[in-house]
Amino acid sequence: MLHRPRRLRKTAIIRNTVAETLLSKEMFVYPYFVTGGKNIAEPIKAMPGAFHFSVDRLVKEVEKGLKIGINKVLIFGVGEKKTKDASSASDRNSIVAKAVRELKNKFGDELYVITDVCVCAYTTHGHCGILENNYVQNDASVNVLAKMALTHAQAGADMVAPSDMMDGRVLAIRQLIDKNGFDNTAIMSYSTKFASAYYGPFREAADSSPSHGDRKSYQMDFRNGREALQESLTDENEGADILMIKPALAYLDVIKELRQNTLLPIACYNVSGEYSMVKAAARQGLVDEQKIVMENMYAFARAGAGIIITYHAKDILEKSWL
Ligand code: PBG
Ligand code: ZN
Repeated sequence: MLHRPRRLRKTAIIRNTVAETLLSKEMFVYPYFVTGGKNIAEPIKAMPGAFHFSVDRLVKEVEKGLKIGINKVLIFGVGEKKTKDASSASDRNSIVAKAVRELKNKFGDELYVITDVCVCAYTTHGHCGILENNYVQNDASVNVLAKMALTHAQAGADMVAPSDMMDGRVLAIRQLIDKNGFDNTAIMSYSTKFASAYYGPFREAADSSPSHGDRKSYQMDFRNGREALQESLTDENEGADILMIKPALAYLDVIKELRQNTLLPIACYNVSGEYSMVKAAARQGLVDEQKIVMENMYAFARAGAGIIITYHAKDILEKSWL
């Protein structure tokens, strides 16, 4: 026999020597849900281990996170006043703007703050844009999103992350924030985001479910792989600094194909449903949580993601699973 691949699997040392994929703590981004009020740390039922934090408690959590190496956070605002035109999303004193100001004041460049830019938690109807004649209007939505991104940049966000899937929003955000002097604020685009049932727990957490209809007229059809690549490359052309595929686990093929077709950094979002499924199975003793989580993380990296946004990041770093 000329080939005995098992030779290089014989001991841990040789397995580690030939391992093709490495993970580092620098790859992880941890998402936080921020709400109004004071001294609030309310567990999110659908997502064991995740919380709604008021800004004061968020600051404390982030401080703890920094000690274990979580130095990149993605901020979602929850519980803001909902209107038809999502006006509270671009309020200079929105919960997100306040959170960003506090975090950047306290931690400066020790912490990298990314904000989610989307209006579904700020609209009465729960859609990710401006709804008129029962249709989410693209260009009107893009205007609102660009203003929201500008507010975040003004509050001090290092990076804004549009998650709405309107056409042309990356370019519009780039132009508006540049015009206002924020040419160093980066954009991580949710560039290929599928209309997915995996967002279920998040929508409970963010109170952002559409009150009627679904998101299929703006988020992508999961039957399409060619279009998935085109969506991300369009955002590259519009000036995105980082491209993101979301969800992650069922879309490793999309991550891999994007890897072969762009030179930009690639992120994947290991979303709420993926997280909650693992937590639920682990709690029932059906799987070993640490092993399952790390297998998933290596799969993301192997597929080509250099940045992993995941609710598991806290467990991974706190419990030294890396
Ligand atoms: C808002 C947004 C969603 C997620 C991130 N930003 C939900 C959605 O599009 O319905 C999903 C995150 C997760 O499920 O963990 N547009
Ligand atoms: Zn949205």
